[in-house]
Amino acid sequence: MQPITEHRMGICFLLLIVGFCWAQYNPNALSGRTSIVHLFEWRWADIALECERYLAPNGFGGVQISPPNENVIITDPWQPWWERYQPVSYKLCTRSGNETEFRDMVTRCNDVGVHVYVDAVINHMCGANAGAGNHATCRSYFNAKTEDFPAVPYSALDFNDAKCKSRSGNIENYQDVSQVRNCRLVSLLDLALEKDYVRSKVAEYLNYLIDIGVAGFRIDAAKHMWPEDVKAILEKLKDLNTKWFSAGTKPVIYQEVIDLGGEPITGSEYFGNGRVTEFKYGAKLGTVIRKWNGEKLSYLKNWGEGWGFVPSDRALVFVDNHDNQRGHGAGGASILTFWDARLYKMAVGFMLAHPYGFTRVMSSYRWPRSFVNGQDVNDWIGPPSYSDGTTKPVTINADTTCGNDWVCEHRWHEIRNMVVFRNVVDGQPFSNWWDNGSNQVAFGRGSKGFIVFNNDDW
Ligand SMILES: *[C@@H]1O[C@H](CO)[C@@H](O)[C@H](O)[C@H]1NC(C)=O
Ligand SMILES: *[C@@H]1O[C@H](CO)[C@@H](O)[C@H](O)[C@H]1NC(C)=O
Repeated sequence: MQPITEHRMGICFLLLIVGFCWAQYNPNALSGRTSIVHLFEWRWADIALECERYLAPNGFGGVQISPPNENVIITDPWQPWWERYQPVSYKLCTRSGNETEFRDMVTRCNDVGVHVYVDAVINHMCGANAGAGNHATCRSYFNAKTEDFPAVPYSALDFNDAKCKSRSGNIENYQDVSQVRNCRLVSLLDLALEKDYVRSKVAEYLNYLIDIGVAGFRIDAAKHMWPEDVKAILEKLKDLNTKWFSAGTKPVIYQEVIDLGGEPITGSEYFGNGRVTEFKYGAKLGTVIRKWNGEKLSYLKNWGEGWGFVPSDRALVFVDNHDNQRGHGAGGASILTFWDARLYKMAVGFMLAHPYGFTRVMSSYRWPRSFVNGQDVNDWIGPPSYSDGTTKPVTINADTTCGNDWVCEHRWHEIRNMVVFRNVVDGQPFSNWWDNGSNQVAFGRGSKGFIVFNNDDW
């Protein structure tokens, strides 16, 4: 293995000189567009409209979309948001829309300079208890018990059951690296990504999306895959569609690796493949802005790598995401969300003003929260829907806010304005920090911008 590695590194070094080798870290947004927005659970038709009427005119670089591939339709509970993380095939039909609508969205967004980033669910298929039949979003047959997914096709040979060494077949111990990567994440059938056949089917799906015109991928559950398996898939990927991207452009990759410290798997193991989601960012920023543990804004003077985060050019950052805004995934109670609107705007404003990382703004829907012993028992609820299960469109009110329970944080004027601020100060250094030793701080971005935060209660 060693000579091959050295040979590859040699090629990599040569390519680095001409600027290709590390292309998977480049967000592939138009120059001067420095943020993307996650339009969580939006319909493709609404995203196409939003690109044209709002995201392009306000300088957004792109949109992260919900998984576009076929998923199980779960009815108990009723069509939760997480059913979209239970693939049945790589056909492009979901409650967000069909393939025609998907293609129309990608074309129309690209045509106005707003790029599309796909949430790629490739670690697993549906849950082991998802049953059998055609209750999937394209009506494809599947059988979770026999691990049969003829619409791909995958069979029982393509799953990791033999490799998993936990008693239940699920991940039981996050200190055991091979369990985390070979066993089932909350019962989701774990694909055998060391097989070239499985890698090829995944790459075929991602290449199909690249040909349609997407700019890159969020790799869901990357922590639950071996970094070298992810790498082998990425090596099979094409360059981006030259209708919108210059020749030789690689898809940007940002991998979901939840690393809050305290586990053997770290984000840095995945740098060879692309960027990683820095989950410490939102958890720490929430703690500071909530003033928990006596923390103060003045502590943010060395924000970024100084706080133990991954290097800035390897980080995808966010205040909250679709998981931790409802208590799933990493971060816990400190995470700020639209439910705490005043503090949330300050957190998003700080993120967008500060040069660290590539920034993703969250755009959510409201759900009826209901706390029992501190737990939201409604954390599963899917997007605003009609009784037949179809997703409600995003309506736009006269004052430019959204209706039908879509929150549209990206349209809140403080957040929209800070997206513009970040574009204006792009490339300018962090400068002229000031604080009063407490919760009043200010800083500049070179000679282009200056911002003041007051987190005192007066
Ligand atoms: C896709 O969805 C649109 C809107 O519902 C519909 O008009 C169209 O016929 C569908 N196309 C296919 C191929 O199913
Ligand atoms: C920071 O400024 C506020 C408002 O003027 C003041 O109340 C607070 O005492 C100041 N903190 C320090 C440590 O000077």
